Amino acid sequence: MDYQAVLEEVAAFAKPLVGRGQVADYIPALAGVDINQFGMAVADVDGGVYGIGDWERPFSVQSISKAFSLALVLAEGGGKIWERVGTEPSGNPFNSLVQLEYENGIPRNPFINAGALVVTDRLQTLTGDASTTMLEFLRAESGNPEVSFDPAVAASETEHGDRNAALAHFMASYGNLDNPVPTVLEHYFWQCSIEMSCRDLARAGSFLARHGLRADGSRLLPRREAKQVNAVMLTCGTYDAAGDFAYRVGLPGKSGVGGGIVAVIPGRCALCVWSPGLDTRGNSVAGVAALDHFTTLTGWSVF
Ligand code: DON
Repeated sequence: MDYQAVLEEVAAFAKPLVGRGQVADYIPALAGVDINQFGMAVADVDGGVYGIGDWERPFSVQSISKAFSLALVLAEGGGKIWERVGTEPSGNPFNSLVQLEYENGIPRNPFINAGALVVTDRLQTLTGDASTTMLEFLRAESGNPEVSFDPAVAASETEHGDRNAALAHFMASYGNLDNPVPTVLEHYFWQCSIEMSCRDLARAGSFLARHGLRADGSRLLPRREAKQVNAVMLTCGTYDAAGDFAYRVGLPGKSGVGGGIVAVIPGRCALCVWSPGLDTRGNSVAGVAALDHFTTLTGWSVF
């Protein structure tokens, strides 16, 4: 596959959509990002990396971190996490509170905020420092030792974090958090604040394309658990737009309100696309279109 030629065609296709939508403004530190940016990278299972546009510019990973925290909990032997969080799409916005009461403090899946808070809580218990564990993993897998937290984004999220605090306290009232709420929130916000480029994220996500094998060839996850993470990404990774994403793109994918999306083609490669303009459900407008066109051009989807 001539990845570079495909990326050029995809970027040309997505170009008219760059600048559409809105940047996330509910976290003030993200509101100032230039909407007119677009980058895309492919990292194949053999270590080759290809990119186009703003593919080397760091952006806020936000909820893409939720896929890595789930993988890290499973890697630490935390499979019991599935007693505390489900595997069903929520059909609700990522920060919704409504289902939690009906469902006794058990979040529908690990990729809505409530679920990610439970996963972060578990990672904190297993490692003693959830956010540093994630940062170190992302540095190693991306091959970029400069991957860092953005303290301004973390502070901004803390300051505007009432909704996440409400979710965490609510789950604590059901006994579904082991650590104090402020500890869980702190690590969750730091994880979301990590800055990475498309290049870094495509490389960091490629263990999911290698069925659980890390960049150095060691095994992070058994094949079955890599399959499970990919499956939950497919069904829940883009929130209440997961059905539309599966219909258009046909790949496991995880989006973030920074405008990035990581997608996985098992056995072949991981992709990351970034463009900050979001649709009403919090997914990058140009990013989803680019992935749609990528799978159309290559014929590579899981379907
Ligand atoms: O919890 C929040 O509000 C953010 N830090 C992460 C949200 C996010 O990226 C949801 N994604 N689309």
